[in-house]
Amino acid sequence: NQSFNIAVIAGDGIGKEVMPEALRALQVAAERFNINLNYTPIEWASCDYYQQHGQMMPDDWKAQLSGMDAILFGAAGWPETVPDHISLWGSLLKFRREFDQYINLRPVRLFEGVPCPLAGRKAGDIDFYVVRENTEGEYTNLGGRIFEGTEREVVIQESVFTRYGTDRVLKYAFELAQSRARNHLTVATKSNGIAISMPWWDERADAMAAHYPDISIDKQHIDILSARFVLQPDRFDVVVASNLFGDILSDLGPACTGTIGLAPSANLNPEGLFPSLFEPVHGSAPDIYGQNIANPVAMIWSAALMLNFLGCTEAHDAMLNAIETVLAKGPRTPDLGGTASTTEMGEAIAALI
Ligand code: NAD
Ligand code: IPM
Ligand code: MN
Repeated sequence: NQSFNIAVIAGDGIGKEVMPEALRALQVAAERFNINLNYTPIEWASCDYYQQHGQMMPDDWKAQLSGMDAILFGAAGWPETVPDHISLWGSLLKFRREFDQYINLRPVRLFEGVPCPLAGRKAGDIDFYVVRENTEGEYTNLGGRIFEGTEREVVIQESVFTRYGTDRVLKYAFELAQSRARNHLTVATKSNGIAISMPWWDERADAMAAHYPDISIDKQHIDILSARFVLQPDRFDVVVASNLFGDILSDLGPACTGTIGLAPSANLNPEGLFPSLFEPVHGSAPDIYGQNIANPVAMIWSAALMLNFLGCTEAHDAMLNAIETVLAKGPRTPDLGGTASTTEMGEAIAALI
C-alpha cells in the first residue's frame, strides 16, 4: 500500500473545472490499486489570490511544497486582471525553476475517435514525445529597456544556454528514444539564424549522440520542423527542443491530433530532489471558462502521468485505457465535436477505470 502527498493547485479559469475530474479519476484508480493519496488543496498560485494579496504566492510557498511527492496543477493566468508575465513568473515558471523541473515531457498521440485535422491520418499514425528544456533557454528575466518611451527605445532580452542544462535534457531525450521502438531522435534547432546558441546546441547534440550509437538523430530547423509536424507527423519519435521551441511544438503537435484539450505534461525533476509537477499543456481558457465544456482529458492524463512517475504504472495504464475508450466511444466535449460537458466526460472516464 503506497502513500503519497500531493499538492493540488487548480489555479485559474478552466483549471478549476478540469481539476475535479482529475481528482475523480484518481480516486477510482487509488481505490482499485490500493494507493493512498493525501491531498493538500492550495488556493494560491492563482490570479484571485494575487488580487487579494498583491502576489501570486505566499512567501513560504517553497517550504509548503517541498515535502510533497508531486504537484498537480491546473492552469495559471487571467490576463484581464493580472498581466501574464506577472502571474506566470510568479507561479508556474517559479515552480519549474526552483524545483529544477528541467524536463517538460509532452506526449503527442492521435487517438481512435478523435477527428484529425490532417488529411488521411488514423489512430496510431501520430505517436511521439516532445522533450522540452524547462528551466533556461529563451525564458529569462535578463535584459532590460533603455530610453524608455522615446524613439531611441532599445529592448534587450537575453537567452541562457548552459552546458549542464543542455546536456541533461539531451541525455534524457536520448534515453527516452532508447526506450522506444524506433530509436529515433529529432533535434530542434535554428543554427542558421540564431548564430551563437543554436550552432552550439547542435554541437552538444552531436557530442551526446556519440554515447548513443543505437539512436539515429536528425537535426531540423524549427521552421521546417513545424511544417513537418503537419505534413509528415509519422516521421517523429522523440523531439528534443529548447524551452521556447518546445513550447510552440507542444501546442502544434496536439493541434495536429485534434485538440489541445487532450495534451498532458510532466514537469520532471527526474532525480526526485524536488517535487515534479503535472499539468495540462493548455492554459486557463478564459474564452470557455464557466460553461463546463472544457475537455478534461489533458488534466486526467496529466494525473495519470503523475502516478506513472510515482511508480504506480498499473494505475496509470488503467487511467489511459479509460481515456482511450471514452475518446473512441464518447461522450465527448465540443472541442472533439461532441456535446458532452466536462463533468459528463470526466464521469465516463472515471467509471471505466
Ligand atoms: P489556452 O490554452 O488557455 O487556450 C487556447 C485555446 O484553446 C482557447 O480557445 C481555449 O478555449 C482552447 N482550450 C484550451 N484548453 C482547452 C480544453 N481543455 N478544452 C477545450 N478547449 C480548450 O491559451 P491562451 O488563451 O493563450 O491563454 C489563456 C491564459 O492561460 C493566459 O493567461 C496564459 O498565459 C495562460 N496559460 C497558462 C498555461 C499554464 O498554466 N500551463 C498554459 C498556457 C497558457
Ligand atoms: C506552457 C505555457 C507556459 C510556457 C506559459 C503559461 C508561461 O504556455 O506550459 O506551455 O510558456 O511554458
Ligand atoms: Mn505553452
